[in-house]
Amino acid sequence: MKRSKRFQILDKRPINQDGYINEWPEKGFIAMNSPFDPNPSVKVINNIITMMDGKKREEFDFLDQFIADYAINIEVAERMMKIDSLEIARKLVDIHIKREEIVEIISGLTPAKICEVVGHLNVVEMMMAMQKMRARKSPANQAHITNLKDNPVQIAADAAEGALRGFAEEETTVAVARYAPFNAIALLIGSQVGRKGVLTQCAVEEAIELDLGIRGLTTYAETISVYGTESVFIDGDDTPYSKAFLASAYASRGLKMRFTSGTGSEVLMGNAESKSMLYLETRCILVTKGAGVQGLQNGSVSCIGIPAAVPSGIRAVLAENLIAAMLDLEVASSNDQSFTHSDQRRTARTMMQFLPGTDFIFSGYSGTPNYDNMFAGANFDAEDFDDYNVLQRDLMVDGGLRPVKEEDVINTRRKAAKALQGVFRELNLPEISDEEVEAAAYANGSKDMPERDILADLAAIDDMMNKGITGLDIVKALYNASYTDIAESLLNMLKQRITGDYLQTSAILDKEFNVISAVNSVNDYMGPGTGYRVSGKRWEEIKDIPHIINLNDL
Ligand code: 5AD
Ligand code: CA
Repeated sequence: MKRSKRFQILDKRPINQDGYINEWPEKGFIAMNSPFDPNPSVKVINNIITMMDGKKREEFDFLDQFIADYAINIEVAERMMKIDSLEIARKLVDIHIKREEIVEIISGLTPAKICEVVGHLNVVEMMMAMQKMRARKSPANQAHITNLKDNPVQIAADAAEGALRGFAEEETTVAVARYAPFNAIALLIGSQVGRKGVLTQCAVEEAIELDLGIRGLTTYAETISVYGTESVFIDGDDTPYSKAFLASAYASRGLKMRFTSGTGSEVLMGNAESKSMLYLETRCILVTKGAGVQGLQNGSVSCIGIPAAVPSGIRAVLAENLIAAMLDLEVASSNDQSFTHSDQRRTARTMMQFLPGTDFIFSGYSGTPNYDNMFAGANFDAEDFDDYNVLQRDLMVDGGLRPVKEEDVINTRRKAAKALQGVFRELNLPEISDEEVEAAAYANGSKDMPERDILADLAAIDDMMNKGITGLDIVKALYNASYTDIAESLLNMLKQRITGDYLQTSAILDKEFNVISAVNSVNDYMGPGTGYRVSGKRWEEIKDIPHIINLNDL
């Protein structure tokens, strides 16, 4: 066939390099409303759910049972299930209906019923609902801080810059597993240099992650994964009960934590039991609720390629974030993995959470260029910082970040790198040279960093961990290296573990170490004139982008 010049050009557009597939419900390739999804129903006898979504208790799998026994408010279930789904959907967008009233209704609903409710909403209505249902009054943001070489000096510098730019939480992971403790320590120190009170985590294998947390080398945890079908759960050697046990282990040591789940994981892992992605995700969200966990990282997360490939998939991703908020959970709303070649498409996907605001709009905005992102690249990265700042300014929306001055960034990065240099010296770890410190101050990514002796680092890490090092040892090392202010910051972060206030839903810390959570800063949005509004100092900050025509120069 003779080709149309227009179609030839269109074929080459980035959007046509993305993968698309039509609905295939038998294999779970369907975002919402699979013909095989169950219909909502519930029956309570003697305070026990004996039937749920068309299944008798004897037929329950372990997710059904966990949800029926721990997640659903049995006292109100039958009454709330009788309310028409369309009516509940309308309450979600009705500015005259309070958040608490909706939370109470949702507490009595089954997974199928919750799906039916959100199925009535288009994305604008979901955003309206999110604006009201988000737990914390003000939105925030989370960064990924990683690099190809696990270079600790670069991690400290990037963590400091990220904190200065406004991230309330920062997360690292590893290229080489054995590097985890250095990554965690570099992130912990760097974050406090950039802005006191920033929370940090290191996403690694669960036993190591728990160990790092118990030692005080991290201040929260997030990647405790749950899945929507029994077979996929078992594939990961887990059950809702084992995950609840792990959650309790974190709580027992006063560490903030949340679970992770998201649409598409069951399809990717090969057993979606012919259910829609959103139905399975709703089961995950309810398992989180039932385990007593305060929050959830969801929104497909690392599986975004799957919902993104099917019709209405990006809408389903917003729906799952919204369901978490409706269940009164903190929501860290993904945007943390690149899924498209198209700049328009990746921006549109992020607007779903950016415009209404969520507890963490990104559960991983890459604080480095994506080539250094060891979570496989985020939807926005360090090279998008100015685009993001302009979006906040154009729309007068608080996306959790702020413009910064080049000079301040260089100085902050240098201070973090030097503090880490001091700590390494005090703890007899392999030397950090002045050359490395200077490179980190000016670097964009790991291509700009000198190589480290990886074998020496790894040997030192094993030795350090065997000696039983804890967060307090880092505090002492900072103090002895004359970084008293950072030592004090770290000590304050450790004190949070004892006071426990930051275990409350959606907790973050301000620079005076005050906890801001859904308890003392509850979202009170009820339409125009209420809720969180960008104003005052925060608006001045958002407006102050560097590339601006100075009126005095004209
Ligand atoms: N479901 C469950 N866990 C997920 N993770 C990412 N996406 C999902 C999902 N859809 C978790 C995994 C991964 C980490 C980055 O986050 O544990 O290793
Ligand atoms: Ca994350």
